[in-house]
Amino acid sequence: MLTVFITGGAGYIGSHVVKELLHQGHQPIVFDNLQTGHRKAVKNVPVIEGDLSDQKILKETFQYYPIKAVMHFAADSLVGESVQNPEKYFNNNVKNSMNLIEIMEEMNVKKIVFSSSAAVYGEPKEIPISEKHPCVPTNPYGETKWIFEKVLQAFHDAQKLNFISLRYFNAAGADPEGDLGEDHSPETHLIPLLIKAALDGTSVPVYGTDYHTPDGTCIRDYIHVTDLSHAHILALTQLEKENASGIYNLGNGNGYSVREVIETVKKVTGKKVTAIDSPRRPGDPARLVASSTKIKEELGWVPNYPHLETIVETAWKWHKKHPNGYGHQKEK
Ligand SMILES: NC(=O)c1ccc[n+]([C@@H]2O[C@H](COP(=O)([O-])OP(=O)(O)OC[C@H]3O[C@@H](n4cnc5c(N)ncnc54)[C@H](O)[C@@H]3O)[C@@H](O)[C@H]2O)c1
Repeated sequence: MLTVFITGGAGYIGSHVVKELLHQGHQPIVFDNLQTGHRKAVKNVPVIEGDLSDQKILKETFQYYPIKAVMHFAADSLVGESVQNPEKYFNNNVKNSMNLIEIMEEMNVKKIVFSSSAAVYGEPKEIPISEKHPCVPTNPYGETKWIFEKVLQAFHDAQKLNFISLRYFNAAGADPEGDLGEDHSPETHLIPLLIKAALDGTSVPVYGTDYHTPDGTCIRDYIHVTDLSHAHILALTQLEKENASGIYNLGNGNGYSVREVIETVKKVTGKKVTAIDSPRRPGDPARLVASSTKIKEELGWVPNYPHLETIVETAWKWHKKHPNGYGHQKEK
């Protein structure tokens, strides 16, 4: 049993990982400022409401709990916003993350699993994208993730910590037991937007219909949030076992176009979904598909929910039961 400090544990992916950690017999301690997270998304674990900019509360938490490892989900993660407001992104995703590793160093905690992103790669030169692909981020969000990976590598080289950086492609779906789901505001992710459209009749823009793809729309790699959660447990086990660090992609290796996702949502929900053909967004690559061979071979990761239909079914189950998500007031 390990006591694991989870930044952003009340968020979409963090809350699913907390559930999995509990299931595996670990003790998660959630640290979250609830700016996008939800208190109702974390049950039966200590939740410290605090901000990573606050070194005092961070240090008190590390002094109080016997923390042995960290999982770092907390971040701002809207690509468009990062272009408009880069200082917010460098402050939260880099400067505040530095606060965290400084406290880790001071308190002698040497293991961290970091939520990185496919956004570190930028415009892909080849598909599927492996970890060897050059990193040339095309927006400040991707830049912040890439910078913090380099920080972690430098700390590793200085023998101050070991890290595993997981580069997620498009996280999607919901806890198959229906307890947890995705509730962002504003929502920018395609599957919850389409489900909302199925539920309340709103329409969803399709950004770009003239890409060099079979149906002209962008292709993305969707990975079930529970499969991501399993990868975090494997990463933690690996950090416990070996004095080593690593970077791993997490995707299914299957690309689905926007139109294919729309058709799948229509099929699963049995409802009408209005999609409106719209101009391309600047900076959206035509295809982003991962090679996850490395994590399969080195950590033994196997996705249990690789099919888009199952991913959408789990999301639909949660949204049908929680049409207002976790509720939009701040829950205490
Ligand atoms: N969702 C995806 O498809 C995806 C893809 C690639 C990478 N990621 C990365 O995975 C991580 C989790 O993503 P998510 O979709 O669960 O996001 P989320 O917004 O649901 O969760 C982030 C959590 O961090 C908290 N937080 C943010 N800044 C904080 C701070 N300064 N102090 C304390 N808490 C803070 C938020 O309140 C929230 O609960 C992020 O780092 C994101 O960049 C997500």
